[in-house]
Amino acid sequence: MKKGNNSNGSINSPFRYAGGKFYARKLILEHIPHHSCYCEPLVGGGSIFFAKEKVKRNILNDLDEELMNVYRFIRDEPENLIRFLEGKPAKKELHHYYKNIFKPESELDRAGRWYFLNRISFSGIMNNQNCYFGYGDKFSMRPENWPRNILRTSEKLHNVELYCEDFESIIDNAPDGSFLFVDPPYFNADQDKFYTCTFNYEDHLRLRDVLRRNSNRLLFLLTYDNSNELWSLYDWAAEIHEREWNYCINRTDDQKTKVKRKGERYKGREIFIFNYKSNTQPYLWQSAK
Ligand SMILES: C[S@@+](CC[C@H](N)C(=O)[O-])C[C@H]1O[C@@H](n2cnc3c(N)ncnc32)[C@H](O)[C@@H]1O
Repeated sequence: MKKGNNSNGSINSPFRYAGGKFYARKLILEHIPHHSCYCEPLVGGGSIFFAKEKVKRNILNDLDEELMNVYRFIRDEPENLIRFLEGKPAKKELHHYYKNIFKPESELDRAGRWYFLNRISFSGIMNNQNCYFGYGDKFSMRPENWPRNILRTSEKLHNVELYCEDFESIIDNAPDGSFLFVDPPYFNADQDKFYTCTFNYEDHLRLRDVLRRNSNRLLFLLTYDNSNELWSLYDWAAEIHEREWNYCINRTDDQKTKVKRKGERYKGREIFIFNYKSNTQPYLWQSAK
């Protein structure tokens, strides 16, 4: 077994990703039913895909072109990405250079720039206005470990289908019987500061509509912030659960507010919306890390 891999192929996301489900992954995995086609229409950092076992068909999609370009390089040309990153130290000056000055001339340049900035930015926030240097040797993955991270991610992405489309066509076209893990930006919080694609009220309604019209042929688990309106938008769903989890963030330097924090504790609180009975025989929870 390779270092960092579980026997079932469970690894961590290759990215730091705002709003990622890393800390909730066990709670989510224990509700995933048996399936042979897995689809994430809003994949972001893909914490759940990377934590679970791959199945026969795996479909990952996000509207963020830069993100999906990096996924493609990790899957298809990991050595070129590694070569781009070689010898680049995780320094504030280089963060400034790659964020503001460097002009990518190829898809590889774009992928390398994005991966580099993502690994050394505060909380992995890539929205240009809120992308600040946030690397520390003690709490971040060191550059010398990036190649191994890229290679093991590449292995997991082998034969995975990657798309860069709006979620609606992906859900409408998901094969019958697919299981979808759906994790949109929050309903009641301004998440546009994290992501490069905006998600407005109409998008939340479109998501509800596309899930509803496909509900007789797909299984889905949808996660959201807990808002009263969501309970009525999804009053047709099979189950809605309120879930909580604790997590602790190790010391992190917030470059915007200049705050140094150490081991702060947080509580994640969300609702899980199912169109199936959540107590069906769990598929994978034993294999969560
Ligand atoms: C909450 S994040 C997903 C986080 C992910 N579950 C994880 O663990 O890292 C939501 C994602 O939706 C993507 N997104 C926003 N609008 C979209 C759209 N119309 N279609 C597809 N993806 C979209 C954003 O780029 C972002 O990556």
